[in-house]
Amino acid sequence: MKTKSLGPVRVGLIGLGTIGCGTLNVLSRNRDEISRRVGRDIEVVAVADLDLTTERPVDLRQVKLTDDASSIINDADIDVVIELIGGIEPAKSFILQSLRNGKSVVTANKELIAQHGEEIFRVASENSCTVGFEAAVAGSIPVIKTMREALVANSIGHVTGIVNGTCNYMLTAMTEQQLNFDVVLEEAQSLGYAEADPAFDVDGIDAAHKITILASIAFGIPLDFGKVFVEGIRDIEMQDVGYADSLGFAIKHVARAARTKSGIEVRVHPALLPKEHPLADVNGVTNAVFVEADAVGPMLLSGAGAGADPTASSVIGDLADIVRTSKATDRVPHLGYANNSEVGQKILEIAEVECANYLRFEIEEEPGILADVGQILASNAIPTQHIEQRKLSSGEHGETVLVLTRRILDKTLVKAIGEIGSLRNVKTPVTRYRIELQNS
Ligand code: HSE
Repeated sequence: MKTKSLGPVRVGLIGLGTIGCGTLNVLSRNRDEISRRVGRDIEVVAVADLDLTTERPVDLRQVKLTDDASSIINDADIDVVIELIGGIEPAKSFILQSLRNGKSVVTANKELIAQHGEEIFRVASENSCTVGFEAAVAGSIPVIKTMREALVANSIGHVTGIVNGTCNYMLTAMTEQQLNFDVVLEEAQSLGYAEADPAFDVDGIDAAHKITILASIAFGIPLDFGKVFVEGIRDIEMQDVGYADSLGFAIKHVARAARTKSGIEVRVHPALLPKEHPLADVNGVTNAVFVEADAVGPMLLSGAGAGADPTASSVIGDLADIVRTSKATDRVPHLGYANNSEVGQKILEIAEVECANYLRFEIEEEPGILADVGQILASNAIPTQHIEQRKLSSGEHGETVLVLTRRILDKTLVKAIGEIGSLRNVKTPVTRYRIELQNS
């Protein structure tokens, strides 16, 4: 960052959406305290947004408003740029040009960091600038700072989190209030939790962006979004929430990056968590990240995962770091190429990942079927913890079978599921969820 004087740090903000307004409001509300802690005043001098007509919950009288972001990026009197428009373009060009102009950048753009972080961090490094991205993962929770700085002494075993506030808000409301999917999605949108395209939330893409970033931090691997296994929450059936509950589990949308003997697994999907798991009771828009590391042992970080002020808190935390450590040598090293000394650890295909599992399917009420199922599980050497038949709750003819397996390779389970599904008296496709145990 080039500082022009010892006066205020001059900031340009691009994007006046939920987080942009939150950032301006929190900066203005806590201005004196922030200045005291940072040692300099922080002044947002210009704000760019394509839409300058919509009424917003923020006082814009003191800033220069423009619909031309390049007037901020190319303004030699602006020290730091905050990018809060999201998406790939034009955000990527805005950030790269800001860095080339010697301005450090703060962003909440997880999609961009997950997909183009390697290029962005290379350009930042070439220009002795910093890119702060704490707000990109888990809203208010300082998980990036914690993992990169506070846990620097540790070898990390896994990081497992609930990192999409919208999905967690929706699953909680669907479970506790029996509300339907569309109603709770609308609620999450109106509260400012959801992405511009909420499919990013419910299909798991947003969580995959976040776990891409956390995996790179935890294991020193390149940012490689394309290698993440992703499933969303659209297909979760309420009957499985009920069955899981009766077996001692909660269904959550989980993102996980873990070091295993055969490589690194990076995956996002609904999972059954034993009720005593630290993530099982994380509800609503709350996010939580559970880290296991060799020196500290288990650690749980939790807090608001989305929303204007919580995310603004992370944006301003990064801004403060940039102001305090404006010399390139003072920075935390960039992610990606500059931090790849541990490459050689490959990211595993999902087929090679081991998990415990929950299976559910319906069968005809006839003797011998369960024995056939048991035979398939045995011939594939799948260890089981629990097999149970229940009368159908609908009162119809037939029975539901619930199976809990112990840890088994994904490809082995998929093969067995195919064999079970083709048994003559199995009436429904096999529903499957992975189970995340606390100690695995
Ligand atoms: N749509 C995101 C979420 C916003 O619901 O978690 C915060 O990244």
